[in-house]
Amino acid sequence: PRPLRVALAGVGTVGAGVVRLLDANARLIEARAGRAIRVVAVSARDRDKDRGVDLSPFAWCDDMTAMAARDDVDAVVELVGGADGPALTLARNAIAGGKALVTANKAMIAHHGLALGEAAEAAGVPLKFEAAVAGGIPIIKGLREGAAANAIDRVQGILNGTCNFILSTMEDTGRDFADVLAEAQAKGFAEADPTLDIEGIDAGHKLAILAAIAFGARLDLDHVSCEGIARVRAADIARARDLGFVIRLVGEADVEQSGSGGAARLLQRVRPCLVPRDHPLAHVDGPTNAVVAQGNYSGRLLFQGAGAGDGPTASAVVADLIDIARWAARNGSAGGDAGGETGGAFSIPVG
Ligand code: HSE
Repeated sequence: PRPLRVALAGVGTVGAGVVRLLDANARLIEARAGRAIRVVAVSARDRDKDRGVDLSPFAWCDDMTAMAARDDVDAVVELVGGADGPALTLARNAIAGGKALVTANKAMIAHHGLALGEAAEAAGVPLKFEAAVAGGIPIIKGLREGAAANAIDRVQGILNGTCNFILSTMEDTGRDFADVLAEAQAKGFAEADPTLDIEGIDAGHKLAILAAIAFGARLDLDHVSCEGIARVRAADIARARDLGFVIRLVGEADVEQSGSGGAARLLQRVRPCLVPRDHPLAHVDGPTNAVVAQGNYSGRLLFQGAGAGDGPTASAVVADLIDIARWAARNGSAGGDAGGETGGAFSIPVG
């Protein structure tokens, strides 16, 4: 079969990681996907920046939003970021043009995932976003596929590596907040605008996506309540420790029944929590992410791993491309029934 031909929009840390991973693991990826996966076109803001990867084999596109119109592209990978702007235009163009779309963009999926999912379903093309939640942890596939037989009672997660790094480093070293935040920025975990991390907004985006998948609910960012970590002091952390707790920024979603036979309501909140030392989330340190899901048959499931970074996030992006290559093999080409690969899972009501 001919290769799956990919357009890559955004060649920062994660994009360069995708190029490296596709090259380094090319043979096993081809064996598992049933066809080679090849980048054919790239686009980014700055053509001349040194990214440590050779982009010369790929067609360079000055207008990334037009990449979706290329005849030599089967799938678009959006790694530009931002809820709106060029990322959203490219995503819409890709779907309208009948291309599969892979994105790591949690803000865009949290804000527009419902509309994009419906458009993808109508167009019969896959929309995949494993990398948008918890970086390298296969949590979307884990819940959608591995835990598919379960009713999920609750999901809880450490979904922002920057906040977890700050809180756990403050606890271990007694250093102050601003100093540890500067280190997280230098290490590249933090968002371009770190208030998205600190205020719990990034974790809120991820929680909204996670909750929609876990509960088969409509994606509902408007009802995620967020409180960040800016007001957590070193003294709070020390006091919590004396009482047998650690402080972590936890995103949590569960379903509340209002009275007997009443409507089910999805509760979604992100806030600094006192986590008892014997809870699995208490042992998650540094920029790591973790998700605990309570399935009614599986019991408690713990997923843990790197929530950011080039390798882990590229791992999730390429897993989605492998799914698309397999899907394309089942369907002949893009178009037709996307067989559960689209965003349609967002549209099932809570109940
Ligand atoms: N700023 C995010 C974090 C990056 O710290 O978790 C990964 O989404």
